[in-house]
Amino acid sequence: MRIQPITNCPTLTKPGSFCKTHLVLGILVLLILFGACTREREQRYYKIGFSQCVESDDWRKTMLQEMNRELAFHPNIHFIFRQADGNSQKQIVQANELLQKNIDLLIISPNEGEPLTPVVEQAFLKGIPVIVVDRKVATPHYNTFIGSDNFEIGKMAGQYAVHLLKGKGKIIEITGLPKSSPAIERHNGFADAIKNYPSLQVVQQINGEWLPDTAKKELSKIADRYRDVNLVFAQNDMMAQAAYEVFKKIGIKPAIIGVDGLPSTGLKFVSNKTITATMLNPTGGEEIIRTAVKILNKENVPKENLIHTTVIDSTNVRIMQLQVAKAASQQTQIERQKSMLQEQKRIYNNQRTFVYVLVSSLFLSLVLGGLAFFSLQQYRKISKKLQIQNQEILEQQAQLVQMSEKAKAANEAKVNFFTNISHEFRTPLTLILGPLEELMANNKNQYSTSQTLGLIRKNVMRLLRLVNQLMDFRKIEVNRMKLRASENDLIVFVSDIIQSYKSIAQKRNIDLRLITTEPHLNIWMDVTMLDKVIFNLLSNAFKFTKDNGYVHVYISKSENNKKAIIKIEDNGIGMSKDAIDHAFDVFYQGEYENYKGSGLGLALSKNLIELHKGSITVTSENLKGTTFEIYLPLGKEHLAKDEMVDSSPEAISSILYEHEKIFTADLITEQSAKNEAETTQARKEYTILIIEDNADLRQFLAKKLNTQYEILEADNGQTALQQAFDHIPDLIICDVVIPGKDGLTITRTLKTDFRTSHIPVILLTAKNSIEQQIEGMKNWADAYVAKPFNTQFLDQTIKSLLANRARLKEHFTGEMPVALNTQIISKPDRKFISEFKALVESNLSNEDFNIDSICKSMGVSRVQLYKKVKALLNINVNDYILSTRLQKAKYLLKNESLSIGEIASRTGFTSPAYFSTVFKSKEGVTPKEFREK
Ligand code: FRU
Repeated sequence: MRIQPITNCPTLTKPGSFCKTHLVLGILVLLILFGACTREREQRYYKIGFSQCVESDDWRKTMLQEMNRELAFHPNIHFIFRQADGNSQKQIVQANELLQKNIDLLIISPNEGEPLTPVVEQAFLKGIPVIVVDRKVATPHYNTFIGSDNFEIGKMAGQYAVHLLKGKGKIIEITGLPKSSPAIERHNGFADAIKNYPSLQVVQQINGEWLPDTAKKELSKIADRYRDVNLVFAQNDMMAQAAYEVFKKIGIKPAIIGVDGLPSTGLKFVSNKTITATMLNPTGGEEIIRTAVKILNKENVPKENLIHTTVIDSTNVRIMQLQVAKAASQQTQIERQKSMLQEQKRIYNNQRTFVYVLVSSLFLSLVLGGLAFFSLQQYRKISKKLQIQNQEILEQQAQLVQMSEKAKAANEAKVNFFTNISHEFRTPLTLILGPLEELMANNKNQYSTSQTLGLIRKNVMRLLRLVNQLMDFRKIEVNRMKLRASENDLIVFVSDIIQSYKSIAQKRNIDLRLITTEPHLNIWMDVTMLDKVIFNLLSNAFKFTKDNGYVHVYISKSENNKKAIIKIEDNGIGMSKDAIDHAFDVFYQGEYENYKGSGLGLALSKNLIELHKGSITVTSENLKGTTFEIYLPLGKEHLAKDEMVDSSPEAISSILYEHEKIFTADLITEQSAKNEAETTQARKEYTILIIEDNADLRQFLAKKLNTQYEILEADNGQTALQQAFDHIPDLIICDVVIPGKDGLTITRTLKTDFRTSHIPVILLTAKNSIEQQIEGMKNWADAYVAKPFNTQFLDQTIKSLLANRARLKEHFTGEMPVALNTQIISKPDRKFISEFKALVESNLSNEDFNIDSICKSMGVSRVQLYKKVKALLNINVNDYILSTRLQKAKYLLKNESLSIGEIASRTGFTSPAYFSTVFKSKEGVTPKEFREK
């Protein structure tokens, strides 16, 4: 049962779209939230390159500090700093490197104006904004200049010198690098201020290169010459301090004016009075960064940004210092607040992110919760639906199982019934066969009657064969057909079967041959199965081969010696393609009449061969012939332990005999059947004793039964017993009420005497009382027929009893045959029988005497021997030998005074104990009891 997938459930499709929509909405909201969050933070990042000419002095260090302080407010700016140690060439290289780094803006404080001009122009023309700081370049191609008005500084210094020296005195000027603009401009400003005071003379100018060490060195060279110097103008405080030291050394203390006014230098020197005054020159570091940010933000900035200056001397240095200290403390405060602010900002950012995440999570939780709730509802609905469906399916399954069990049981019952019915067919078929063979044996039959009887026999055999096959098939189907393989010579086995077809072959002039190069070929096989296969294939071959044709049987070994191959080849009518394809299918009936069998034989053969772990194939050509090939594994490795039994040649003979009748009956042509019927001597097989005091009835019965049986008659109890003991009839019909002894007494007497105990007794009586019937049965009567009886019923009762007795006899007893009616058998058969009997009798004391010994001595096959003996003496050979031994033993027991042991030995029993056991089983008494009787 297949569970149908639920595909058209609307509740399932809607939630799907619901889910999707809500999920998408949720994600959108989240994106917007995070978008807002990131947009707020979205800033452009810039790279600023700063090329500094030198950094070793405090003024440059202060400038960098200020710049960094301002940069702290612009985290989006990546600041790259290079310094050239006061070397213009090095600065050119560094500036170019910065340009290579794709900077967004260049800040440059050129060591010297001219050498650095080309790199500034290059940057500017490339579109990179350039801020020139402190020192100037010789080009207008830059964005802005930030720095002090150095002319003004120089001028203020000059004016201060005029004022200090009151327009008269000698001056030494210590300049910075002569090619740097502050050096030029400060000099010009100073010169401009003193130009109107001719008594004021710059007596010496020294190049200090902005460096105190250079200034010291150069000034030391000439200081001694200018002991009368009144004032030194040094273009920065560091060089001014150097001048103080030089002049101090030679004991002179001129007034000294410096430039820069840094707290750490100028202010300190003024305050310490080592120099007289200093011109304030702020570094402008913060301003530089602010201007850079403006330019990057595309704001307009003036081309020149001049920083104002002132004079600091002993009059205002204290205030300046205080201001600076205050500014410094404010700066520290600012720094602290800034860092607090940053911490707050960080906390705020963290909290904001946390809030975003929280809100988003909340929103998502809400959405997902809603979805989960909705899905749960849907799930419950669907589960419920599925549960109902599953329940339905389970119920349907249970119903189906129930139905299939019922169907199976019904089918089983049907098949069992069919098998049982088939089995039931066997008894009536056997019962038909007996009288039929009797009728056929009557040589007074007309030709037409013989023909009809032959036809009936043929069909009875066919039916028997079919019934047997059906039962075998059923056995295979329910796995009850078990292989009972024994080791046998395949050559002997097949040649014995072929023997059964010899006379038919002769009559139809069919060339029947066994062709093999193997003298012996031992193989493990179940003879009861394999014989059915070989008989079936040979019968088919004969059925479909025309007179004068051939049937050749080949036996060989496969190339690897692992298999035996039996090939049955005929040149009969052959099979159509369709028939070949379905040859081994059960109940297949070909569309052509050619090869139409029961549809069972070949299928059964295939199954039987497969039970042997072998295979069977067919090749055939229409109108040319058919070949069946059987492959059987050699050895016994392929067999399970319980599939192997000891071989018994006698059993083989008896089976082959049975199958020969069944398989060859319908092969005999009508003509040959007629001939056979004619040559068969009529013989009444059974003798019946009629015990009836009513002469009419006795004669009526005698006349009625005379045609089929030898009849003995008795009209009283005495004669009846006499007759019974003298003749040992096959059946007794006895009236219950007769003079002398009554029927019940006679029955009891006969049934208790071992000589007559086996004879079936039918009691006849007019009294239809159930008591009498019970009484009769108590005395072991076999049947009870009430008068007036139906002769057909009586007839059938007789036949059933005889047939049952015959079967019992065949299966269980080895009774000695009744005296041979030598008149009804032919001369050669008489010779055969007397030879056979003589051989048996002369070997009675020989323990090793067996069927093979007889076959050898008489020159016949086992089948032939079995057939002959069965036909003539109606007993199987082994039973005959045993019975003869027992007969002789009985004779010896009654007539000779030999010991039981001696008698046992003389009659071929291996031990007295075995003799006693066999004797008791056959005679009902022990040899000793028998002798004493
Ligand atoms: C520092 C310095 C300052 C001076 C400036 C001139 O390197 O010498 O003392 O004012 O440079 O460019």
